[in-house]
Amino acid sequence: MDKELGLKKRVATLTLDDGRQIELPMMSGTLGPDVIDINALSKLGVFTYDPAFFSTASCTSKITFIDGDAGLLYYRGFPIEQLAQGGDFLEVCYLLLEGELPTAEKLMAFKHKVTMHTMVHDQLMKFFNGFRRDAHPMAVMVGVVGALSAFYHESMDINNPDDRDLACMRLLGKVPTIAAMAYKYHIGQPFMYPQNNLTYVENFLHMMFAVPSEEYVPNPILVKALERIFILHADHEQNASTSTVRLAGSSGANPYACMASGIAALWGPAHGGANEAALNMLEEIGDIAHVAQFVQDVKDKKRLLMGFGHRVYKNMDPRASVMRDTCYEVLKEQGLENDKLFKLAMELEQIALSDPYFIERKLYPNVDFYSGIVLRALGIPTNMFTVIFAVGRTIGWVAQWNEMMTESNRKIGRPRQLYIGADRRDYISTDKR
Ligand code: SDX
Repeated sequence: MDKELGLKKRVATLTLDDGRQIELPMMSGTLGPDVIDINALSKLGVFTYDPAFFSTASCTSKITFIDGDAGLLYYRGFPIEQLAQGGDFLEVCYLLLEGELPTAEKLMAFKHKVTMHTMVHDQLMKFFNGFRRDAHPMAVMVGVVGALSAFYHESMDINNPDDRDLACMRLLGKVPTIAAMAYKYHIGQPFMYPQNNLTYVENFLHMMFAVPSEEYVPNPILVKALERIFILHADHEQNASTSTVRLAGSSGANPYACMASGIAALWGPAHGGANEAALNMLEEIGDIAHVAQFVQDVKDKKRLLMGFGHRVYKNMDPRASVMRDTCYEVLKEQGLENDKLFKLAMELEQIALSDPYFIERKLYPNVDFYSGIVLRALGIPTNMFTVIFAVGRTIGWVAQWNEMMTESNRKIGRPRQLYIGADRRDYISTDKR
């Protein structure tokens, strides 16, 4: 593997308590911590033990780099702050998928390809009717994106690069359409068809907020804000939902089923569901006068400060800073500079960033802390926040899945365990129990 990766080869020596020793290869990447390849450990009949993977690298990847201590995030080497300023989400999608920034000509061709896949099969609409109108939109997303795997049988050979590329385009094109349909179904309005003359984000806002009875023109400031939000959410190396997509993909499952598994994992409040939970938390606190008591409840372990903390970032999440600036721009555009929740969020951030409890635990605002306030200001309802996250993250899931599928030594992911259950024992018939 080292030759293939062109990585420097070094060795870590492990000595067990019975005196046995093993030399394990160490590897350095382009950036970030070195790794120890523990594959040979199984020869000694021992496993490593790392629940929740605090110290485990599951793969090599060239897509995204995070430095949690320095608060850095690079997509294919480009800092997130620069890409967010550039503000072209499909350009970032091309970068994440292909590895380089596109020429103007290649970007135009890519945008056309994605646009040509934004409509969904008419039969797909029938899946919505099985849901209650008050179903959480994330439940609809898991179901309907997963249902895409019931279509396209003629082009589902995951070992064929053309089929994989087609699946990537279909997912990039259709997930926003399905997301907007989930919202329309929830509020009882008719589905709006994609409009090929609109940009990706204009089209999404049109499908979300237009109605057949009148013209809808997306506000350019709001389009720019949502473009930036999608860029900030596009990828984040081996987070829980991306790792889920990779594990599902390692079995050879089709890409649509893999993305549905990623959506399911994203839904949890510890992950992508945090933006919805953070806004609900701010609404529950309600007033700056209640902040002190809430912070005390957090210190007493009665509550979590949603939108704070991160497994990797032990410094400010660089996305949170961009999101805070975007928040202010959108609120200003909407005439909501004095938005109560925004002021409450900034007060909460200030208190948390100066309080030893949070400082000791290196708890900083993450991408989800401000995103809820921006999304609410864009007119998106709280229960759609994680759906928006899923729309932005689809490119990350697709790019990481595709990267894994091109690996020559690809194997099914199959972790082991430390068994702490009952020792061998014989069956006891019912009358003797
Ligand atoms: C995302 O992985 C990714 O990259 C994810 C993501 C992406 O783009 O894909 O960045 C998106 O999911 C961002 C995270 C969104 N989640 C939240 O905002 C939910 C609130 N945060 C926590 O649930 C927590 O911070 C996690 C889950 C994000 C991280 O938890 P860890 O790494 O397992 O850390 P931990 O739970 O062991 O916490 C360490 C300490 C504990 O206190 P002690 O036991 O040491 O006394 O910090 C405390 C925790 O109790 N702590 C918090 C806290 N987060 C951690 N205390 C209060 N509020 C919090 N939010």
